[in-house]
Amino acid sequence: MKVASIVLCAGVGTRLKSSKSKILHEVCGRSMAYWPIKIALETTSVKPIVVLNHQAEAVEDKLRSYFHDDIRFALQKKPDGTGGAVKAALPHLDPECTSVLVLCGDTPLLRKESIENLITIQRKSHVPIALLSSHAVEPTNYGRIVRNSDQQIVRIIEEREANQLEKEIKEINTGIYVFDVEFLRNSINDIKNNNSKEEYYLTDIVHLYCAKGPKHGPVESVEIPYEEMRGINDRRQLAYAQYAMNRRLLDRWMLEGVTIIDPATTYIEMSVRLSKDVVIYPGVHLRGETHIGEGCVIENGAIIKDTVIEKNARVLPYSWCDQAYIGERSEVGPFTRLRPDARLENDVKIGNFVEVKRSRIKSGTKAGHLAYIGDAEIGEGCNVGAGTITCNYDGYNKHRTVIGEGSFIGSNTTLIAPLSIGTDAYIAGGSVINKEVPNDTLAIGRTHQVNKPRLKNTLDERNLERDAKLML
Ligand code: UD1
Ligand code: MG
Repeated sequence: MKVASIVLCAGVGTRLKSSKSKILHEVCGRSMAYWPIKIALETTSVKPIVVLNHQAEAVEDKLRSYFHDDIRFALQKKPDGTGGAVKAALPHLDPECTSVLVLCGDTPLLRKESIENLITIQRKSHVPIALLSSHAVEPTNYGRIVRNSDQQIVRIIEEREANQLEKEIKEINTGIYVFDVEFLRNSINDIKNNNSKEEYYLTDIVHLYCAKGPKHGPVESVEIPYEEMRGINDRRQLAYAQYAMNRRLLDRWMLEGVTIIDPATTYIEMSVRLSKDVVIYPGVHLRGETHIGEGCVIENGAIIKDTVIEKNARVLPYSWCDQAYIGERSEVGPFTRLRPDARLENDVKIGNFVEVKRSRIKSGTKAGHLAYIGDAEIGEGCNVGAGTITCNYDGYNKHRTVIGEGSFIGSNTTLIAPLSIGTDAYIAGGSVINKEVPNDTLAIGRTHQVNKPRLKNTLDERNLERDAKLML
């Protein structure tokens, strides 16, 4: 007995007032539809069918990037309502499935346990419709569940169609159902669009079933907390879903042994992985495929994206790390910028206002202040002085700088690539280096300083000064 699933993602999302499809808006780093689709995958036995229309190609690409071939797509030719969306998916249903779960792509806060519960109830009772309902203090904009005097569900009335009395009902429709497939196939065409939006409301199927006398038993319902069913129709609801999902992820990591000093100002995306005894200070953003090893400390305001940080490393305040690698016990920041393919091995120190891009910095090397290291390989135990710049770009191409282990690069050195500096070399501060420096060599690439006795207020001194200015 297989259960199929349909996830409705074809709506235009008018209320978000966006040029981008509603479904592409993200909650904790994933399209809002990622969350219900993931639940469909976890609770049913065949590939979920995702219904698309608005910006179908872009939405399909995004969802494929998460689920690859584990999902299928159906096209709803025009977005004529949730009834039309389900109808578009029906021809794609696996003929072996006798029940089908229907979810909306805009309800990311739903929990897996609630869906498992709903499926079980429908499977046990064989009733054609089982739905999730909820109670809301402020039910505006949701469909209301109308019950008869026996407390049986008789219809769902949409906000726009509801009269004053119906609007006062606090029990609301979550838009999540399990149907008997045969019933759904036989009834979907009976839904009419004679309503204020001229749309085919899936919710009308409840009334269609009940009006004939519910011969296979009353519609079943399972109540879930309002928090779980809060949908995203406008940007306020988007912000709430982001807040609530973020808090869920933080709670999960705190239970796994991560210290989060201020959950209210810490932001974490779905794909981030943390280890025990990681400490996260306020204002930190962890994004994408960021993995942080045991005992690391991430201080205030750091933004870390797609970066791997090994054990006991430390990221000091306001650093930006994107597609970087930070080895064990290394220290980065404050105010460091690690750009893609910055690879710091163990015990490396990269300090304030240092930018590193596509470079490998081997163990024990330090670049403490104000430097740019791009397209470089720096050996073990080097010291890169303040103001050191790798001139990697000649206006046309990028060139590499290679520095051997144990070398010392004096402050304010300009390294004009392509360039190779040997091991244990010593570059004098203020040098411009554009020729190879062999191993164990002191290189000085600057003009000599001239010291002369002062000739106070004489014409000679003024002339010297004038000449110096002319030389600039
Ligand atoms: C819907 C329900 C409402 C319920 C609420 C819960 C209907 C008519 N109303 O209202 O009872 O309280 O969800 O959140 O079902 N979609 C399509 N194709 C379409 C239209 C919509 O695939 O032509 C998709 C949307 O992308 C969305 C979902 O269906 O994921 C729900 O559509 P939406 O317009 O958000 O309906 P609500 O007004 O929220
Ligand atoms: Mg909605």
